[in-house]
Amino acid sequence: MVKQRTLSIIKPDATKRNLADAINTKIKEGGLNIVARKDMQLTQDQAGSFYEVHKERPFYGELVEFMTSGPVVVQVLEGEDAVAKYREVMGDTDPANAAPGTIRAEYAENIGANSVHGSDSEENAKIEIGFFFDETELAG
Ligand code: CMP
Repeated sequence: MVKQRTLSIIKPDATKRNLADAINTKIKEGGLNIVARKDMQLTQDQAGSFYEVHKERPFYGELVEFMTSGPVVVQVLEGEDAVAKYREVMGDTDPANAAPGTIRAEYAENIGANSVHGSDSEENAKIEIGFFFDETELAG
């Protein structure tokens, strides 16, 4: 297996409940290393273009609204098979379908306020990491 990177966002529903440390514990227990971190408040423009692929979906407006409703923690995770591994650690997008012990099963409120985002492919991981971090921030 090859070392891979993926992008994680701890969403406003989780930061509001001070769950970032608990979520990062689960990430590390899953064998992923946190190699970069930014604590930020997304603007409407940032959230809107980050989720551009969902622009035509009925929940797009709600999604952008939610992602700008409070602080987020944006992180680059690294490990073997990191994209798939992190999706496993997060659990299903809809917490009602998330496996026990996953981040979303334990912490998510609903399909929108679902505590975390993770890239869905290696190609998108590269794009999403580049959206928030430049090369100098990812050295090593
Ligand atoms: P995320 O992994 O951040 O990528 C897109 C997000 O859209 C997804 O997690 C969900 O939080 C959100 N989403 C997906 N389906 C719905 C829905 N039906 N209603 C509201 N938000 C949704």
